[in-house]
Amino acid sequence: MEKYIVTGGSRLHGKVTISGAKNAAVAILPATVLARDVCVLENIPNISDVTALLNILRALGARVRLLDKTTVEIDTTHLTEPVVPHELAKPLRASYYFLGALLGRCGRADVSLPGGCNFGGVRPIDQHIKGFRALGAEVSVNYGMVHMTSEALVGEHIYFDVVSVGATMNVMLAAVKARGVTILENAAKEPHIVDLANFLNSMGADIRGAGTDVIKIHGVDVLHGTEYSIIPDQIEAGTYMVAAAATGGDVLVENVIPKHLESIIDKLRRAGATVEEFDDAVRVSRTGRLQHVNVKTMPHPGFPTDMQPQMTTMLCCAEGTSIVSEGVWDNRFKYVDELRKMGANIQVDGKVAVVEGVERLTGAPVKALDLRAGAAMLIAGLMADGITEVEEIHHIERGYSSLVDKLRSLGADIRKVSYDDDPLREAL
Ligand code: EPZ
Repeated sequence: MEKYIVTGGSRLHGKVTISGAKNAAVAILPATVLARDVCVLENIPNISDVTALLNILRALGARVRLLDKTTVEIDTTHLTEPVVPHELAKPLRASYYFLGALLGRCGRADVSLPGGCNFGGVRPIDQHIKGFRALGAEVSVNYGMVHMTSEALVGEHIYFDVVSVGATMNVMLAAVKARGVTILENAAKEPHIVDLANFLNSMGADIRGAGTDVIKIHGVDVLHGTEYSIIPDQIEAGTYMVAAAATGGDVLVENVIPKHLESIIDKLRRAGATVEEFDDAVRVSRTGRLQHVNVKTMPHPGFPTDMQPQMTTMLCCAEGTSIVSEGVWDNRFKYVDELRKMGANIQVDGKVAVVEGVERLTGAPVKALDLRAGAAMLIAGLMADGITEVEEIHHIERGYSSLVDKLRSLGADIRKVSYDDDPLREAL
């Protein structure tokens, strides 16, 4: 067991390079099974979700070779049974992308229901199943396993009842191999949807409209291997941008697509930060006091829900009262109790948090309740007086590459310790 120990008070300064996008990589890795061929993926983030997906690919019979720290070669010529058992699927949500990918490749898929961040309620996959059924698959769920079979997938007009990133990508993965045309309406528009479509098109698929709410897919019989570089991670970039503003720092965030960061840039400026945009970088700095802003999370191009905990944390020390409304998940404010341990003044009523700015936070032992909540605890620790210990950091390491090294290079006082090395624990 490991934890991060953060001593607050340092203003982050310098340059940080953003890694490949987690939420694109976790769909593109399963997508490689759609070709009986070799794919080379560049700009792969070094995170535990990627490790978990590479393990699933190996268990399915793919040959996986790391060419360097961020490049992986995957040969899916020979696959064994299209089955992903619970032990392999449980560490992450994205294991469910093997449903669409294996259905497209084999006409069959048996995949355990996924794990991933728990926001305190059910994370349904009814829209995924609706889409697979519309394409002609028979779907059943027994003892936590989703079983799907199909004689032949046939294109269909599918209207999603909710805007879902996962359902849009999963159904796209199967539809690329369906006979005829599939139209996805009310599709999600996140940058990772476009990246998956671009990847699939580079394998020979015919997908148009990704990034809008109507996606048209002409099915093809065969997809081939490809070389592809994954886009930079919008949320990792946003996290460092907020950390820079929260600590009154000055950070150049490199290897980003500024267009993907517009909603975050807007809120940071309104909160009193200065943001300069370059072709593939943004610079965030702040000298004056943080100001209150209201934030509502929405599907892209709205403010991303995956930046909500980090932004709420920054606003804990803003002048005035900020209102943060969560428009995607039912229960994404559980981490607020951890912030209260550090002196934050936040009232939560359902999907709305009212944040009364305080002068300062103080260090405390806190838990990373999920991936982005964990990132928020680190930002809180960097802003706070004294020492913050963040436990359950495996959640954070699911989604942030080389986090400690990157933060230390920006001047943060952070280290990772094993509980076994912890002198306080030995003294207990
Ligand atoms: C993806 O989750 C991301 N995960 C999440 O990021 C992110 O918070 C979310 O999209 C929204 O942007 C991955 O990409 C692996 P959804 P996903 O389906 O696909 C409801 C992170 O921190 N819904 O877009 O599971 C659902 O309950 C993670 O990186 C249904 O009702 O999210 C939610 O309210 C956490 N039925 C809303 O739609 C369904 O079948 C959006 O969920 C599917 C979803």
